[in-house]
Amino acid sequence: MSETTTIESEALAAIEAATDLSALDTVRVAELGKKGRVSGLMKTLGQMSAEERQDMGPKLNALKTRVAAAVEARKTVLEDAALEADLANDVLDMTLPPRREPTGTLHPVMQVFEEIAAIFGDMGFTVAEGPDIEDDWHNFTALNFPEGHPARETHDTFFFHPQQGDKPKVLRTHTSPVQIRTMMSQKPPIRIIAPGRVYRNDWDATHTPMFHQVEGLVIEKNIHMGHLKGCLIDFVKAFFEVDSVEARFRPHFFPFTEPSAEMDVKYTKVGESIEIGEGDAWMEILGSGMVHPNVLRNCGIDPDDYQGFAFGMGVDRLAMLKYGMPDLRPYFEADAKWSRHYGFKPWLTPSVSGGLS
Ligand code: PHE
Repeated sequence: MSETTTIESEALAAIEAATDLSALDTVRVAELGKKGRVSGLMKTLGQMSAEERQDMGPKLNALKTRVAAAVEARKTVLEDAALEADLANDVLDMTLPPRREPTGTLHPVMQVFEEIAAIFGDMGFTVAEGPDIEDDWHNFTALNFPEGHPARETHDTFFFHPQQGDKPKVLRTHTSPVQIRTMMSQKPPIRIIAPGRVYRNDWDATHTPMFHQVEGLVIEKNIHMGHLKGCLIDFVKAFFEVDSVEARFRPHFFPFTEPSAEMDVKYTKVGESIEIGEGDAWMEILGSGMVHPNVLRNCGIDPDDYQGFAFGMGVDRLAMLKYGMPDLRPYFEADAKWSRHYGFKPWLTPSVSGGLS
């Protein structure tokens, strides 16, 4: 009997002394587990006489119940304490300032590139690329600029020092060489746009020596000027986010298209800014035309089988028009105040369905 009293008081003391849940579990196993001391006492019942068992059975059972109850009670206390400690650590200081918004912005030119890609992407165009450093053949000759033709000079080309025996490489003066690279590497039908940097030796309020263009090229069977007009009018409406645009296609000259046309749209001046679509004045926004048969032939495409149209637009100017930026020069000045004002949140990707701007 004294052994059971000792075991009980030791067990209860150990339970009280357990300072965390894992220590408590160790005590539980040592007392109530299969090989535990209390379980050992229970086993002694088997060797007792019937009278002894009648006396001891209820007592030992009661002891086991008390020890088990003490474990449960301690467990509740320890669990509550653990929760309190967690809550105490998990403080939220309401007096701290909120997290600051990220300050970087997407440059308007990049935003407009994304918008243009979203619109033409919706019409089934993919994006093509070419190098900024071009050879004379891709930038001029393949595009039907005859040798020594004055059109080469109107481009104010930057030339590299020529390698021995080679024509000098150039900084591409337009994105049109990407037309050539695409037709040389892909079979029609072709429907691409080519966004990129272009370079001309020019520098004033509306011209910078590096600027941005997006080229477009469609080569399919039975393509005609109506497709060109429909495609570009749809583009202008989507880009300026207006329901109707009055447009005209004014005859022009480019060596690589025939016929060629510049596209003008009507606009209204509202204070300092400009609204595209309707109004009393015309503004030129892009160059276009039907791909010249010589250009198709230079790329191994038979002009009797395939026709196409091409267009090229100045992205910097489109961005100025759409977002009311009066001067081109701050584009390249890395002025944080200007970027915060005119820049875009980089994670808001433009889409035709979700909204462009
Ligand atoms: N490459 C021409 C330019 O830079 C634009 C253009 C592209 C015109 C395609 C017609 C067709 O002025």
